[in-house]
Amino acid sequence: MQDNRAEQFNGDQEVDVATVSHPVFARVYERLSVAMDRAGTAAFRRDLVAGLSGRVIEIGAGNGRMFSHYPPGVTHVLAVEPERRLRAAAERAASTAPVPVTVVDGLAQALPAGDGELDVAVVALVLCTVPDQASALAEISRVLHAGGQVRFFEHVAAEEASGLRRAQRLVDATLWPKLFAGCHTNRDTVAAIRSAGFQLDELRRFRFPATSNSPSSPCVLGRATKPARTVQQ
Ligand SMILES: C[S@@+](CC[C@H](N)C(=O)[O-])C[C@H]1O[C@@H](n2cnc3c(N)ncnc32)[C@H](O)[C@@H]1O
Repeated sequence: MQDNRAEQFNGDQEVDVATVSHPVFARVYERLSVAMDRAGTAAFRRDLVAGLSGRVIEIGAGNGRMFSHYPPGVTHVLAVEPERRLRAAAERAASTAPVPVTVVDGLAQALPAGDGELDVAVVALVLCTVPDQASALAEISRVLHAGGQVRFFEHVAAEEASGLRRAQRLVDATLWPKLFAGCHTNRDTVAAIRSAGFQLDELRRFRFPATSNSPSSPCVLGRATKPARTVQQ
């Protein structure tokens, strides 16, 4: 549900954005995310942030299930979460996190950070839901310095021409986004990361759950870098 128009800061311009309100989904996700972590996503979360250091922005932090996994080299996490109930849960999780975490309201398409301020951006199960991946990734690129990293763990489109890909198209056009707060299963997130100008450093593709044929089972976990500025000749 999109409501309550709000003004947010996006780099050097103010943009008019809608806030995100999904109280039913939020209530369900608080339990579902714990069950998913027990079933295996906790291990992916650990891998996602392994070895990180410096200033991190986590986008769409949900109820804060990533926080306990940040390694000690991380000096600060700016956790952006637009959904009120999930943000309150994230604030509770931040209070016991092993590294300093500040939870703020905000949207991927208008991140509350200045240009080049951050070393790393973390996205976990979020680029399936943002209204426009290109805008979100452009914002991520803006707030990272050259050489900064994106770490991503996302469910994505299945192989082109597969039965599962056809099923993904069907569920995206019908009930899935309504049931799961705007989530889409048929997004080629790795292509979107490349198109946003990031250099892909590492990519794992797998199914979660491992033997599942659910529309949200094809997953990617990886790292990409914002290239250093090139001097125009
Ligand atoms: C499936 S949950 C994932 C939460 C968390 N990242 C995790 O790994 O458990 C998707 C999250 O994206 C958030 N979200 C939805 N639209 C967003 C937007 N435009 N910008 C940032 N976050 C958004 C939701 O509120 C929700 O917390």
